[in-house]
Amino acid sequence: MKRSININALTRPIIQTMQAYRSARLEFVESDREMILLDANENPFDTGLNRYPDPMQTKLKERLGIVKHVDPSNIFLGNGSDELISLMMVAFCEPKKDEVLLVPPTFGMYQVSANLNGVDTVEVPLIADFQLNVPEILARATDHTKLVFIPTPNNPTGNRFPMKDLKAIVEGFPGLVVIDEAYAEFSPGETAIDWLEDYHNVVVLQTFSKAQGLAGARVGMAFAHSEIITVLNKIKAPYNLNVLSQQAVFDRLDNADAVANEVQLMLKEKQVLVSEMQKLSYVKNIHPSDANFILIQVDDSQFRYNQLIEKGIVVRNPSNQYACENTLRISIGTATQNEALIAAFKTMDQ
Ligand SMILES: Cc1ncc(COP(=O)(O)O)c(C=O)c1O
Repeated sequence: MKRSININALTRPIIQTMQAYRSARLEFVESDREMILLDANENPFDTGLNRYPDPMQTKLKERLGIVKHVDPSNIFLGNGSDELISLMMVAFCEPKKDEVLLVPPTFGMYQVSANLNGVDTVEVPLIADFQLNVPEILARATDHTKLVFIPTPNNPTGNRFPMKDLKAIVEGFPGLVVIDEAYAEFSPGETAIDWLEDYHNVVVLQTFSKAQGLAGARVGMAFAHSEIITVLNKIKAPYNLNVLSQQAVFDRLDNADAVANEVQLMLKEKQVLVSEMQKLSYVKNIHPSDANFILIQVDDSQFRYNQLIEKGIVVRNPSNQYACENTLRISIGTATQNEALIAAFKTMDQ
């Protein structure tokens, strides 16, 4: 099956008609010719950062296009996925009228972004084994349900959703399906990027914050139909990705072997951690993880959280989330960090 949709009709009317700001660096598209740049009121003395970044990140998108096997016109880059999530709401959701669908327990920023943008949320909780309730998601969606956000692997539960469930949603959902693959590198498999040609309602988010090791640089990627990318370009801040962050991404892409090696180390450490945690009497359940973190169920999560803090170890207590009572979410650290965690865990078992 294929699906093409009217992206213009999904876009908020105010955004369809608005004039985008044209930054100085957009008026003149850089070529290889040496030019005297007197167009942007910059300081002409070279500090390494005295020039604005390319607003369209043309070179970086060309490079990412090769890595991800997509055309650069299908890529949007932002200040972390957080910016992309917010821009999707600004572009497509009319405050107090439209809504987004969430599948709790889920990544917390979707709700925060919806609140900030005055957009209502509809929740269709996960069912047994933290799986998607596909029929309910499709049944609850109306013409005002402009977006559904699905992180896979999911945060905080750690599991990947079956591609067939995601496909069923993509085929039946009236709005845009945002598939957030922030942790994709930790369980290589099919990516929804491969669906972009056939399904124009798919938006895939990926990030440099997790496996790629650049959380401090704040670089998120959206892959989508070029008309969706055009809408996002229209509403973004002109220079939303700074020069240093773009350079950091180039450097990391040049070191793809190092990234792959780090991912392997983290996956190995995850196994060590799981087998050690299975021995602990107060760990009641270890949820299967396709990511670089593990969700465990314990006897008393606040008590165990506090014990770890006393020992100088910070984990996450997502117990206030749907179906996550008495859980802790633990990121996979280095071998040394994990040894410290395991040693701390063992002293807590007495
Ligand atoms: C599912 C998911 N998406 C997005 C993000 C945020 O990514 P970024 O650092 O690119 O804003 C996170 C961070 O925890 C996440 O868990």
